[in-house]
Amino acid sequence: MNSPVMQGLNLGTPAHVKNAKLIAWVADMVALCKPDSVYWCDGSDAEYQRLCQKLVDGGTFKKLDPAKRPNSFLACSDPSDVARVEDRTFICSEKKDDAGPTNNWVAPAEMRATLQPLFDGCMKGRTMYVVPFSMGPLGSPIAHIGIELSDSPYVAVNMKIMTRMGKAVYEVLGVDGEFVPCLHTVGAPLQAGQKDVSWPCNKTKYIVHYPETREIWSYGSGYGGNALLGKKCFALRIASTMGRDEGWLAEHMLILGVTSPEGKKYHVAAAFPSACGKTNFSMLVPPAGFDGWKVTTIGDDIAWIKPGTDGRLYAINPEAGYFGVAPGTNMLTNPNCLQSLDHDVIFTNVALTDDGDVWWEGLEQDAPGKALPAHLIDWQGKDWTPAIAKETGAKAAHPNSRFTVAATNNPALDPAWDDPAGVPIDAFIFGGRRSTTVPLVSEGRNWVEGVYMAATMGSETTAAITGQVGVVRRDPFAMLAFAGYNMADYFQHWLNVGKKLGATGAKLPRIFTTNWFRKGEDGKFIWPGYGENMRVLKWMIDRIEGKVQGNDHLFGVSPTYEEMNWTGVDFSREQFASVTSMDKAAWQKELQLHTELFQQLQHHLPAELGQTKDQIEKRLAA
Ligand code: OXD
Ligand code: MN
Repeated sequence: MNSPVMQGLNLGTPAHVKNAKLIAWVADMVALCKPDSVYWCDGSDAEYQRLCQKLVDGGTFKKLDPAKRPNSFLACSDPSDVARVEDRTFICSEKKDDAGPTNNWVAPAEMRATLQPLFDGCMKGRTMYVVPFSMGPLGSPIAHIGIELSDSPYVAVNMKIMTRMGKAVYEVLGVDGEFVPCLHTVGAPLQAGQKDVSWPCNKTKYIVHYPETREIWSYGSGYGGNALLGKKCFALRIASTMGRDEGWLAEHMLILGVTSPEGKKYHVAAAFPSACGKTNFSMLVPPAGFDGWKVTTIGDDIAWIKPGTDGRLYAINPEAGYFGVAPGTNMLTNPNCLQSLDHDVIFTNVALTDDGDVWWEGLEQDAPGKALPAHLIDWQGKDWTPAIAKETGAKAAHPNSRFTVAATNNPALDPAWDDPAGVPIDAFIFGGRRSTTVPLVSEGRNWVEGVYMAATMGSETTAAITGQVGVVRRDPFAMLAFAGYNMADYFQHWLNVGKKLGATGAKLPRIFTTNWFRKGEDGKFIWPGYGENMRVLKWMIDRIEGKVQGNDHLFGVSPTYEEMNWTGVDFSREQFASVTSMDKAAWQKELQLHTELFQQLQHHLPAELGQTKDQIEKRLAA
């Protein structure tokens, strides 16, 4: 323990870093990972440019045409490293029961023994970047600090966009402040003289969380969800356990503000499973018939929500940027997002046009008759033409290709997005992707019924997770892959928060469930598009304001046709009936699936949820 590294002598620790625990941890990790050098990120723009240039020089980044896409880059990953790896993601709590039946669990001591040899020397030939970041506005009472050590400059530049990253974090951290240590390696040490590849990674992958000690260890992947450890690993898995212990919520939710023509503003937090249009909803442009209405973005993926002294729930977006799915984004689905991508963007796994710009499937759909590009280089570096695509089905962009962009690029950014106090939440929305069964929108009659709706949410799988696309899986609260502890305890935590706040006499947020994805017999979506979701949002506000009664049914309260504003869209009573209909046989099957979920979670399942199911079954039988 007496080597210069262990004494912190050759770490190059900057004078402004004074946190003893941090300095000791970096020294230990340097001794373990054995990087060639250590670089302490300051978060400056000059540093960002320097690291981007390094990535260009090393072949990871391609600089896009500066006129078409100023200061923007394209990275194409190893074809094996394109998504989160849920089967390699572990919650290593002391007790298996605390991880629960929906998480992969390994005892911490066993996992540490497995990881030790993998991390030993894993950064040889590389630089270790020390990345200080705040999840949430610096110094906000809702925010928390993390430090990521990574051997990937791609991670460092993405973290600069995705978090409040840089020197100022050390001021908040001080001498003895708390931080979540996040260790990441691509798992590809370089031997002396060995040439690097453009996307180093390892076939072996481990995404490991130790909830009791609040640590994250990630091995073998450079993909965002596995490598940008502030996001899913910290802001959801570790933070959800912090929330359980400290009485707050870390949720897979967008946050938006919606302002009426009279200037009345509401805040809504909405949970949808991965790649179900969260970014689109958070940047919604009100359609015709909604003159004077405004939707503004606070966050597009994650919300940290803490009770205020007035008993209301206040939310911040812990992130500072968007790591969104590119395919399908166009001027029809999300004009604000497309505008955000005009400059200063890191694209990953989209296609390259012959004039140095980017392209992805769906981009052509914003103008009828707009032609496909004649030629592209696809995300794997191969030639792509419409003819090749027709013949082979080859996608130019990977279905889970991404953009990384600062929130400040978003023209619809809410003025309070960076407010350390957060915004008061008026409603929660939980929305699955279901082609049948679940109605367009329904409100829980009370907090418990709302929690039931969220807990039993099901969704057809998408490209953001590996495995089959289009299979229905239960995704409670859209947190199946992200709850850092036992899912049944997580339900209990939600019930407890409701009980506690309810007891203060404060107005609890209303809870709604939505489903934009009902399909007709022709296999096509019935709901006319993302922008139209404003109509549903407006009905929710009318509910909050007590202006509409709705239609009481077995699974909450849904709107009548007359209660919705249909100005500017041609949506018939019959079409409305087909997105809100409740088929008895389908619901009998659905409840069977709820029963299966509850059986899986039986051990800790809150009694209230079983009772709520009994009530639904009674209504169904009546
Ligand atoms: C994401 C996800 O990347 O949910 O946001 O997978
Ligand atoms: Mn997400």
